[in-house]
Amino acid sequence: MSVVIVGSINQDIVARVSRIPAPGETVLASSMVRTGGGKGANQAVAARRAGGVSVAFVGAVGTDSDGESLRGALVADGIDVSGVSQVDGPSGIALISVDDAAENTIVVVPGANAVATALTPAQRAVVASAQVVLTQLENPISLVQDAAASRGAQAWHLLNAAPSAPFVTAGAALLPSVDVLIVNEHEALDVAGVDNLEAAVVALAPRVRALVVTLGRRGSLIVCGDERVDIPAFAAEAVDTTGAGDTFCGMFAATLSASGRAPESVDAALLADAARAGAAAAAIAVTRAGAQDAVPSATEVAELLERTHA
Ligand code: RIB
Repeated sequence: MSVVIVGSINQDIVARVSRIPAPGETVLASSMVRTGGGKGANQAVAARRAGGVSVAFVGAVGTDSDGESLRGALVADGIDVSGVSQVDGPSGIALISVDDAAENTIVVVPGANAVATALTPAQRAVVASAQVVLTQLENPISLVQDAAASRGAQAWHLLNAAPSAPFVTAGAALLPSVDVLIVNEHEALDVAGVDNLEAAVVALAPRVRALVVTLGRRGSLIVCGDERVDIPAFAAEAVDTTGAGDTFCGMFAATLSASGRAPESVDAALLADAARAGAAAAAIAVTRAGAQDAVPSATEVAELLERTHA
């Protein structure tokens, strides 16, 4: 059972503010921390902490000190980093503001994440060993295409189309390779090029084996063929929603991998189990600060799922 995440890894620089500044406005932060982030690396941490599956991360760091510490943090979590390359220049950085309402703004300076447009032979070998390949869109689209094409015949490709802007300009060619498309509501509208959720579902669901739309406090929606399932959200007192979607995706991927099922056998029940686990993990993550720092353990997720079933 293995999950390989091909994606971004960033040094997150997080300022805590009472409110997000308006354009042209300056606000003073109450604190600032540097911590591990990047949608790909966050998803790798979430998949690994889900337990029960081996996890490898494929991506790139720079030649700066951030690169070493970011890679080291993944190793400390038990993630295989043999597919992490080092490229000349800085590692990716994300400048994040989080306000008292737990909302955030994120500006990513891609650095090393933007350099490679294709996988190396060693990275392709890591991807080929996966049962589930999970990608996002903070790297060049051609790298994501390469990852999808390098997976084994029975391997899943889960695409989390976040951020959605690269998809709008160049991502449509990706869809035929996607088994499960995971998007939030805003991304669903962007990717489908429509202005309401129902129209997005109608446009996207027939183009992939399964569509998962995360809806924040409204839970998530799964569409798989003719089946449609609403997954309720878990109640949570949010302090920081940064990386909550990544936690959902990592846990979702680990649950699919642990099932041992192939993409051809997908059904809504399997996806619902994975989405419930992802939603539980995300509900815990939003109660804590940071992205990777906030990802819960398998035990914490199991306890929440059990409490909620009782
Ligand atoms: O999804 C949250 C992540 O987006 C942050 O960790 C930041 O690095 C950006 O990639």
